[in-house]
Amino acid sequence: MMVTTPTNPSPATHLFHRPRRLRRTAALRRMVRETHLDVNDLIYPLFVMEGEGQRVEIASMPGCYRYTLDLLLKESKQAFDLGINAVALFPAIPEVKKDDVGTESYNPDGLVQQTVKAIKQAVPEIIVVTDVALDPFTTHGHDGLVDEKGTILNDPTVEVLVKMALAQAAAGADFVAPSDMMDGRVGAIRKALDAEGYFDVGILAYSAKYASAYYGPFRDALDSAPRFGDKKTYQMDVANAREAVKEVALDIAEGADMVMVKPALAYLDIISQIRNATNVPVAAYNVSGEYAMIKAAAQMGWIDEKQVVLESLTSMKRAGADLILTYFAKEVALMLA
Ligand code: PBG
Repeated sequence: MMVTTPTNPSPATHLFHRPRRLRRTAALRRMVRETHLDVNDLIYPLFVMEGEGQRVEIASMPGCYRYTLDLLLKESKQAFDLGINAVALFPAIPEVKKDDVGTESYNPDGLVQQTVKAIKQAVPEIIVVTDVALDPFTTHGHDGLVDEKGTILNDPTVEVLVKMALAQAAAGADFVAPSDMMDGRVGAIRKALDAEGYFDVGILAYSAKYASAYYGPFRDALDSAPRFGDKKTYQMDVANAREAVKEVALDIAEGADMVMVKPALAYLDIISQIRNATNVPVAAYNVSGEYAMIKAAAQMGWIDEKQVVLESLTSMKRAGADLILTYFAKEVALMLA
């Protein structure tokens, strides 16, 4: 390349600051990079179903499956071998085991409890996170108990959530993760866990969980969409940010060890504000709809899946997330390896 000395220097030649200097080579860019995505950041959500030897792909989440326990154990082992430290479990409960009050949720031999025990046997070191919410267990698909007028009842629901969290702790869960958005559930669960001696079982609270349209594919996966109404009387209004800071403060005061913002990509401002408002680890949930959008566009050949995934997850870390729950966990672990 020929370099000439300009005879007519442009104003640019007199700049002292040239940010592009730090972008000149790959080594330089690596050296000044502010955010690093790491396999240790990832939590892998997994769907479990009854039966044996089967996995069923979720139509709106290509590459994601509902696994029977035997195959889920293999998937968990593979994930751990790739460096993923934690899985989060979500059960697909057969319609016949659902009722109005989610009784199956605290069955000591229920699907989640069985799965936790089996994972803890097969892959003892992997951190198992269990979801505390009634929606996969209720005929109406709501996260709580419903009265005759269709109102979601808070305090009676918390009583059931406590039983559910205790059943999960008894099975060996490392973290229980209330995703129901009832008021006061974190404190009630912490108190009950301590009373039963489960001091080391942690709480990862879905603190700022929004009433989002991005959960559609997840509800397909578990057939858990609400049969009437919506979740707007308990999940947060998508327009609110200050309220998220309040929810996080309440959950920490009640004993949450880690807090979560959900969804992630459309809520990076919330992640950032919560990062600044607290010192506990902040998790971001890269939810089913975010996964589905990337997969769909990639299948059409419209975006570069790998690059878009890395860019999306890096943006969550840049916003302030310490941990990311993502269905891309295995793919990302392979990309980072
Ligand atoms: C259950 C729960 C939901 C998700 C996680 N836990 C669905 C909902 O609240 O309706 C969504 C996760 C995703 O979309 O990936 N309360």
